[in-house]
Amino acid sequence: MKGNLFMPKIFITREIPEIGINLLKEKNWEVNVGPEGIISREELLEGVKGADAILSILTEKIDKEVMSAAGPQLKIIANYAVGYDNIDMAEAKKRGIFVTNTPDVLTEAVAEHTIALLFAVAERIAEADRYTRAKKFKGWGPKLFLGADIKDKTLGIVGLGRIGSEVARRMQNGFDLKIIYYDVYRNEELEKKFNIEYKELDDLLKSADFISLHTALTPETQHLISAERLKIMKSSAYLINTSRGPIIDEKALVEALKNKTISGAALDVFENEPELTPGLTELENVVLTPHIASATKGTRDKMAEMAAQNIITALNGQTPPNLVK
Ligand code: GLV
Ligand code: GLV
Repeated sequence: MKGNLFMPKIFITREIPEIGINLLKEKNWEVNVGPEGIISREELLEGVKGADAILSILTEKIDKEVMSAAGPQLKIIANYAVGYDNIDMAEAKKRGIFVTNTPDVLTEAVAEHTIALLFAVAERIAEADRYTRAKKFKGWGPKLFLGADIKDKTLGIVGLGRIGSEVARRMQNGFDLKIIYYDVYRNEELEKKFNIEYKELDDLLKSADFISLHTALTPETQHLISAERLKIMKSSAYLINTSRGPIIDEKALVEALKNKTISGAALDVFENEPELTPGLTELENVVLTPHIASATKGTRDKMAEMAAQNIITALNGQTPPNLVK
């Protein structure tokens, strides 16, 4: 058998936590890792050549051209993310390539970042921090940085998946908000379990004080939060997004924030990452973080292990555990 052994080639498009890389290296497989920064398209097309497995990052578009550049032996694309809108799923299916993601292990981290953003924008934390650093603080004031009330307010969750329901549970149990939700699938079991109420999307937008987005990006959810929908929200409402940027019409959001159509927004994701819509950074009533909701040490390690394990299973000829659709 010697000399005839199957020696898989794995291309990791960007450095991920070592624990995942080491799991693959321990197999004595050929493991190549892309550059430190975001990989260029040319480097990506070159790097995937001959790969049996690609471990991809959400900043890379994995389309027909990349799959062709890899070659017909490509068995699996293991995305280092729960979302997989960066992958051409139809093309992967046509070619019989497995696509996997990293669900569950990041649910708590993303839910916690969502809640941190909600509080940051409601309590005006980032704005007050800038003010204090700028040495503008001249002493305690009865009306200094008045924020929004949170207890007993209504939180509208758009997309009651793993992350959406974790945010709902924590906000209700921990901070006494009333929870309403919209999803394409109504889930009466979760409604009972969490004591939450289903609303049609526009009804939710009309009545929520805080709106948090937790849907996947698909052609149906692109610009789900449109200029028209921003107009039906309360002028006291806050919008939080830790899902995917294009779900909001970002230009319309900048207008809405400028005109105080809504009170504020907290965003971890952007329509054309890493570009920001002009005007966004000039607004005081918005909190911005650079797509880091799942970025905790423990979570990123678990994501790395999970992606590696998906590859190991697929290259051993079995169906990987986190296969998506
Ligand atoms: C991050 O945005 C992810 O989808 O995991
Ligand atoms: C993703 O993990 C979700 O179901 O929210």
